[in-house]
Amino acid sequence: MRGADGIVATPLDPVGTALFDAAGPQLKIVANFAVGTDNVDFEAARARGIVVTNTPDVLTAATAEHAIGLLLALLRRIAEGDRFLRRGEPWRWSTTFMLGTGLQGLTLGVLGYGRIGREVGRLAEAHGMRVLPMRDLARIGEVDALTLHCPLTAETRHLIDAAALARMKPAAVLVNTARGPVVDEAALVEALRRGTIAGAALDVFEREPEVTEALLSFGNVVLTPHLGSATAAAREAMGRLCVEALRAVLLEGRDPPNRV
Ligand code: 8YV
Repeated sequence: MRGADGIVATPLDPVGTALFDAAGPQLKIVANFAVGTDNVDFEAARARGIVVTNTPDVLTAATAEHAIGLLLALLRRIAEGDRFLRRGEPWRWSTTFMLGTGLQGLTLGVLGYGRIGREVGRLAEAHGMRVLPMRDLARIGEVDALTLHCPLTAETRHLIDAAALARMKPAAVLVNTARGPVVDEAALVEALRRGTIAGAALDVFEREPEVTEALLSFGNVVLTPHLGSATAAAREAMGRLCVEALRAVLLEGRDPPNRV
């Protein structure tokens, strides 16, 4: 990064003093290739007058779709069925074979009701779900599925811990397309082991890219490798927003869109 005037960073890159020192005093902007900015030390950026931008809106639909996709994959046992066939297990259709749960009529708790949370709510309603927007965990005991769409902050780190999981219905499932550390993964493994929740679908992980090994052994767990915004269209649009921000600050000397 030495000598860079602008940097495009991802959520896996810590953006703070070490990066700023490595780049040098000419650094003016870090365009974060993500809507989440939990990798950024804003105090350090502010102290040096470094502008930070993100990429909201353009990934909302993709991420919301992924959350609903994970929920369907889990409750309708799509991923489990796929794994089952690939293992070459003998099977025969029967009236009670691999029954799942339909979305229709279930209550979906949406924790974090911002751009992505609202879009998930809209898609869920189209599937006949009752949507419960949640700012906190007060009504967690009511939900059949809980989907996380809050940013990772000091307040939300390990928000879904053993106590929160214990308050969920045993038949309820958890979906996380937000940030891994919002969930205490060890507590989640324990809850799955004891059957105090019915399953989990995770796109993000506490120590990403590492995946807690115990999670791999559960049939009622669906895992994807941080694919929330991974459509070609969303990623291209995210890239364009980063370029626009760099151009605004470095070439045109103006405040960029999506400054955080
Ligand atoms: C990114 C994300 O694509 O925007 C975010 O916050 O988590 C994803 O959409 C991913 O982090 C790579 O930059």
